[in-house]
Amino acid sequence: MQQHLADKNIALDLVRVTEAAALASARFVGLGNKELVDRAAVDAMRIAFQSIHIKGTIVIGEGEKDEAPMLYTGEKVGFGDGAEFDIAVDPIDGTSCVAGGKPNGIAAVGIAPKGTMFNPGHSFYCEKMAVGAEAANVIDLDAPIKDNLVNVAKALGKKVGELKVFVLDKPRHEKLIKDIHLAGARVMVHSDGDIAGALMAIDPTTDIDMLVGIGGTPESVITACAIKGTGGQMLTRLAPKTEAEKEAIIKDGFDLNAIRTVDDMISSDQCFFAATGVTPGELLDGVRYKGEYTLTSSISSRGRTGTRRYIQAWHDRAKLSKMSSLEY
Ligand code: FBP
Repeated sequence: MQQHLADKNIALDLVRVTEAAALASARFVGLGNKELVDRAAVDAMRIAFQSIHIKGTIVIGEGEKDEAPMLYTGEKVGFGDGAEFDIAVDPIDGTSCVAGGKPNGIAAVGIAPKGTMFNPGHSFYCEKMAVGAEAANVIDLDAPIKDNLVNVAKALGKKVGELKVFVLDKPRHEKLIKDIHLAGARVMVHSDGDIAGALMAIDPTTDIDMLVGIGGTPESVITACAIKGTGGQMLTRLAPKTEAEKEAIIKDGFDLNAIRTVDDMISSDQCFFAATGVTPGELLDGVRYKGEYTLTSSISSRGRTGTRRYIQAWHDRAKLSKMSSLEY
């Protein structure tokens, strides 16, 4: 049976892209230099994309062409001979975590067939609420957080007091955190990295039951690629932080009240997601050095089947250094 180009499973190819970014940026863990962390990840990711047999266009990248020399929005990536894909990259989600030596820094990529990925335009921030499959149908961005917690707890067969909610540790979340505490649930704050937060929320093997709060809109699209096919859900609503952002997204034609589901953000199930840990987190371990080897811990998923793979790889630094222009 001939396999259609768009049906090809490239989930594992994609892991090599995030592994490359993680390996390159891990050299700068804890050195306090965010630019070095990001640049190493971007350079490595771009090179790694060249070996994937797709015609890819960066839809969510590092910025416009002039401000981002690589992986800029509109840049073509991939070997150039396969199906056409829209690509959303976050070479490092949690750059501050990696530079600052804190948990949850990951390299992440989401891809979907051309024209099937939500383009957030000039939107940088949105409200997010993410849960795994068991609670997918009970969350509601319009309802008070207390009601959501009660409903999620019921769906998971837990008491509200047992729920652990991932919230980014930002001043804008002061009231949200207070309200979660008033409802009796537990807040697990993290300084950055809400892609990892959402991955934990949808994975029943972790301690996190839910993610709530305002985070990056580009990150939400990448997260949607990861959730698609798992049965989990993430609801989002644009939440501009400044007047300028608000004006720009209204000009883009967006309805500020619209609530988007995972399916609204990624309309095809032929999507793929990969992430590799750079600093250790609950879901993915960070990059580790063992003698001649560097170990990476990654997740790869495919929307069509909902298959998620956790992959630990041992990389032989000496061999890789001979074959590649990258430093390991
Ligand atoms: P970057 O490392 O890519 O900058 O993102 C980190 C992050 O914490 C995201 O996970 C989150 O969505 C966003 O920043 C929140 O933005 P801000 O730090 O501006 O509140």
